[in-house]
Amino acid sequence: MSNEDDHPAGIEAISVYVPQNFIEATEVAAANGTDPEKYTRGLGCRRMAIASPGEDAVTYGCEAARLLLERYQSDASAIGLLVVGTESGVDGSKPVAAYLHGMLGLDCRCRVFDTKHACYSATAALRIATDWCRGHDGRRGKALVVATDIARYDLGSPGEPTQGAAAVAMLVGNDAACMQLEHFPEAVYAQEVMDFWRPNYRHTAVVDGKVSLRTYLTALENTWDEYQRSSGLQWHDYEYLLFHVPFPRMAWKAFRLLHERYGNGESPEDAFSRMVEPGLWACRELGNCYSGSLYLCLAALLERVGQRATGARVGLFSYGSGCCAEFFTARIGSSSGIWHDRIGIGNGLRRRRQIDYSTYLEFRQITERMEGNHECQAGLASDADAAVTFCGTREHRRLYRFQAPTAGAESTQRRNSVNAQVANVLR
Ligand code: COA
Repeated sequence: MSNEDDHPAGIEAISVYVPQNFIEATEVAAANGTDPEKYTRGLGCRRMAIASPGEDAVTYGCEAARLLLERYQSDASAIGLLVVGTESGVDGSKPVAAYLHGMLGLDCRCRVFDTKHACYSATAALRIATDWCRGHDGRRGKALVVATDIARYDLGSPGEPTQGAAAVAMLVGNDAACMQLEHFPEAVYAQEVMDFWRPNYRHTAVVDGKVSLRTYLTALENTWDEYQRSSGLQWHDYEYLLFHVPFPRMAWKAFRLLHERYGNGESPEDAFSRMVEPGLWACRELGNCYSGSLYLCLAALLERVGQRATGARVGLFSYGSGCCAEFFTARIGSSSGIWHDRIGIGNGLRRRRQIDYSTYLEFRQITERMEGNHECQAGLASDADAAVTFCGTREHRRLYRFQAPTAGAESTQRRNSVNAQVANVLR
């Protein structure tokens, strides 16, 4: 099967927003009266990023996109398509993408929308963006794909140690400096299943963990087989494998399933260290960031291996509960080494702070109150460098305050008008 591509498209640049607060998994285990080894060894969870009041999917998405445009000196007016993958939407109708469009000062001819299918949504967004780029060879600008999520479960529930948060922004275009997506026939698996969902009346997800794990592995087997059949690729053609990571131990379960069937003489532990670990380290620090999880692994891989891995083939498995899954491949671009220090995971981790269990509880309570239509406060975000903060809801409108300049004159105008609006309400 050929992989010819007249207008190759891929990821030109990638940036990660690392939330400023985290809690140790062992601290949550102590509060729940659970053996900490269950969380750290059984699930592979080390730390979880915790959103503070004033942070939501909009503020995280805005931070990641703003950092991307700044770090790679990209022109916001050249963005012709913005797609946000999220399952932490803040409104039943208005997409997160609409907020970001205003905050980033994007052109009024830019098409904007969200995609939703649990953790698969960012892959759907990336697919749409690459097809769009291939279709016009750059004439209509570049696409911006943002994956932004906050994973919350009930206190004391089995899912609680697997919480997390982050946002990943990707610039998609025809100069695949970071990653070129290979253009083999698609390998998709879909099935209606109640494995994980969040009803509209809840802040936290409901999960049938065992069903979800089983469905994930069935989807992996199906898409892997389909992809190898259509592409002609084999196990030894892959340098790296990246998986959607609801908790780090899941990546091991997924890898072991493939290795048992296809691995050569190398032990599964050694092969895992070589092929999966280089992309997994950030998930141990941030936890599950849902739609961004697979792309956090990709960013972590690029940040760790940089230019040394130019040309390496990466297999990516995306899974969204409900369910839709896809396996695809990409090659690391020749200039990924130039970019790797701009991705921002290491820097983000160095500047964050640890919170204790009582602060974690307090953050949850205030956040829930702010999601009602009655409370509006300024200055709640604990990230002093954050560009934008959620202040609360008044008259059914979400209010955001900009605290630092975003790029471009148009966005400065926009920032001032949003701030004036917030100031009126806060008065
Ligand atoms: N020390 C070390 N390991 C321990 C342990 C201890 N004291 N106690 C349990 N473990 C191990 C178990 O053996 C198990 O490992 P295994 O899966 O390799 O057998 C693992 O820890 C988890 O234990 P388990 O009893 O299965 O946990 P649980 O029923 O409380 O829940 C999940 C685990 C994964 C189902 C739950 O965390 C969950 O639902 N997570 C969310 C999943 C998700 O996000 N799905 C949607 C997208 S894919």
